Amino acid sequence: MRLDRFIASQREELSRSKVKELCRRGLVTVNGAVVKSSDFSVDEQSDEVCISGERIGYREHVYIMLNKPAGVVCATKDRLTETVLELIPPELRRRGLFPAGRLDKDTEGFVLITDDGELAHRMLSPRSHVPKTYFVRLETPVSEDTAARFSAGITIDGGELCLPAELTFTDVPNECLLVLHEGKFHQVKRMFAAVGNRVTYLKRVRIGALELDEKLPLGACLEIMHKDVDKLLTRQSPD
Ligand code: URA
Repeated sequence: MRLDRFIASQREELSRSKVKELCRRGLVTVNGAVVKSSDFSVDEQSDEVCISGERIGYREHVYIMLNKPAGVVCATKDRLTETVLELIPPELRRRGLFPAGRLDKDTEGFVLITDDGELAHRMLSPRSHVPKTYFVRLETPVSEDTAARFSAGITIDGGELCLPAELTFTDVPNECLLVLHEGKFHQVKRMFAAVGNRVTYLKRVRIGALELDEKLPLGACLEIMHKDVDKLLTRQSPD
């Protein structure tokens, strides 16, 4: 891969023309030797590329766990409202990042931000049935009947049939965990509306088998390690 393409792909703030300029100024080294021409060919897996001595590590894709706060939208751009991409710290920013899936503006919790379109597609495709787990607080206590209707597959307004979903009770009567295997528009809220209840607080706490880090503050991000990326696609429901 060309040196300028390599660096530009890893750092959003460094365009290919900026890289050219850095090379001209003698600030770029490959395996310790100054390289002045930005079309120099590098092996992205094995060569050590540095700018002013700082190593530019290579990752084909980046996977970011964001703990989305309420009031922020899952979009790449919005004229009026802050987007999830604006919460990504500069060191994790790169071209092509997008939120893989949407949470409502008032929903909190785990949003995956990535530049890996293929993984996002596999994670979101209704056919892959990757479970998404939500913590739900309701206006009135959750009943056994609701759990049974969700588990059988409930029909929500407009006649849409939902796939079976698993509801787990907690110690608090009006709180529960709900695992969905698809992502219809406002699905959790509409499912509870269909049984005469109302969601007052919603947070996504797990995607596949990967849990939202409970120490991650609202609005903060962390990079998901490559060894954990496959967990985002794990189909079976967590226990
Ligand atoms: N279901 C909803 O109703 N809202 C969300 O944000 C996610 C799932």
